[in-house]
Amino acid sequence: MGRHFLGLYLLIVATLAAVSWGQDKLLQAYGVRDVADDRALAAALAAVENQLQSAPVKEWPHIVDAVSAKTGAGYELFAAADIVGRDTLVKLAHGKIAYMQDGAGEAWALKQLNKDYVLAFKSQAPAPQSGLLEWVLTLSFYAAMALVIMLWIWPLTRDLRALGNAAARFGDKNWTFDARIKPRSQIYALAETFRKMALRIDGLIASHKDMSNAVSHEIKTPLARMQFEIELAQNAQSVAEVKTCLTHVKADIAAINELVSATLSYAILERADLALNIGTHNFTTLLPAITEYVRNDVRPDVTMCAQLSGDTDHVVCDLHLIETVVKNLLYNAARYAKREVHMAFTVRDGLNQLLVDDDGPGIPEKDRLRVFESFVQLESARANKTGFGLGLAIVKRAIEWHRGEVLIANSPLGGTRVSAVWPAAAAKAPG
Ligand SMILES: Nc1ncnc2c1ncn2[C@@H]1O[C@H](COP(=O)(O)OP(=O)(O)OP(=O)(O)O)[C@@H](O)[C@H]1O
Ligand SMILES: [Mg+2]
Repeated sequence: MGRHFLGLYLLIVATLAAVSWGQDKLLQAYGVRDVADDRALAAALAAVENQLQSAPVKEWPHIVDAVSAKTGAGYELFAAADIVGRDTLVKLAHGKIAYMQDGAGEAWALKQLNKDYVLAFKSQAPAPQSGLLEWVLTLSFYAAMALVIMLWIWPLTRDLRALGNAAARFGDKNWTFDARIKPRSQIYALAETFRKMALRIDGLIASHKDMSNAVSHEIKTPLARMQFEIELAQNAQSVAEVKTCLTHVKADIAAINELVSATLSYAILERADLALNIGTHNFTTLLPAITEYVRNDVRPDVTMCAQLSGDTDHVVCDLHLIETVVKNLLYNAARYAKREVHMAFTVRDGLNQLLVDDDGPGIPEKDRLRVFESFVQLESARANKTGFGLGLAIVKRAIEWHRGEVLIANSPLGGTRVSAVWPAAAAKAPG
C-alpha cells in the first residue's frame, strides 16, 4: 500500500508539472498579445519609420544603429528576403505588424518599410534561462500541491483498506463485520451498506442453520414412529392390526408433509429476490370473514371480533402474504385465549396497522424478540405439541417485505398484543 501511495504521489506531481509546462508552451505559441503592447510597438515602429522615409535608403542602416544606440531600444534593419513564414509575409504585405522569434529565442515585431527592408523591434525580453533555483521552487510548489491532495486522499485510502480487510475477514471465517469506519469518513455510507449486508448474510446463515437443525430434529420423531409402526405391522396377526399401524403411518406422513410446507413458506420469504404481488384489496369484508373462519376452525367457544377503521376498502399490499400474517396471528391468539380475541385494522396517516389481542397468558418480556426467530416455541415440552414455531417468523418477514415492523406488547385484554404496522404504499426487500 505504501508503494502505491508513493506512486500516486509522484504521478500527481508529474502530472501537475507536465500540465503547467504544456500550458506555458501553448501560451507562448498562441497566446493573445496585449492590445496596449501592440499600440506601443506600432508607435515605436512608426516613429523610426517616419525618420527613415525622409532619408535616402542607403542611410537607413546608420540611422537605425544610431536610434538603437541613443534610446537603448533594440531596433534592427532586416533584409525582406530574410523573413520567412507565410503568415508573417502576408501580414507585412498588408502593412501590419508581424511577430517572429529568431534562432536565439528573441521575439521581434516587424514592419515592412519597402520591398527590400523590414524594420524590426525587439518586442520582448528573451525568456530567461531557467535557473536551478527556479526549478527547485517550481518543483516544491507542485510537491506542496500534491501533498495537500494526498492529505485529503490518505484517510480515504486508509478507510478503504480497513473496509477491504474487514470484508476479507468476513468472507474468511467469522461472519462478523468489524470495520471501524468513523461517521465523518467519506466512505461511511458505503461501510454502513456493507455492515447491513453482512448482518443480513449473517442472519440468513444462522436461520438456514436453525432451519436444517430443526427440520432434521422434527423429522426424526415421525420417522422413528413410522419405523416402529412398520415393524408392528410386519409382526401383526390380523388385518385389523395392520390397518391400525397404517393409519398411524399415514398420520406421521401428514406431519412430515405439514413441516415441509411450513418450512417452504418460510424459506420463500427468506429469499433475497422475492417478488411481491402488490395490489389494492378490500379488507372491509375480508378480515371479518377470515376471523370467523379461524373461530369456526379452532375455537368456536371464544368470542372473536374484527374492528376496522379508515379507508379499508383500498389497502395496498401483497394479499397472499398479509392473509398469511392475519391467519397466523389469529390462530396463535385463538390457541392461547381464554374467552376473547380482538382484531383491529386501521388505515391512518399513510400507515396500515393490524392489532391482534387475546386474554391468554401473554408472552414474557424477555421472550418477545426471540419468538420471532424460526422454530422457537416457548413451551417446547408440551404434550400435545402443535405447529413448528414458524408462524411469527413468517409474520415478521412478510411485514418486513412490506417495509413495516411487528412488535409484541401487553394486551388491554390481559394477554398478548401483536402489532404489525406497514406503510400504506409501496413495499420492498427487507434491509
Ligand atoms: N398469542 C400468544 N399468546 C401466548 N404465547 C404465544 C402467542 N403467540 C405465540 N406465542 C408463543 O410464541 C411461540 C411461537 O409462535 P409461532 O406462531 O411462531 O409458532 P407456533 O404457533 O408454535 O407454531 P406455528 O405457527 O409454526 O404453527 C409459540 O410456540 C408460543 O409459545
Ligand atoms: Mg403460530
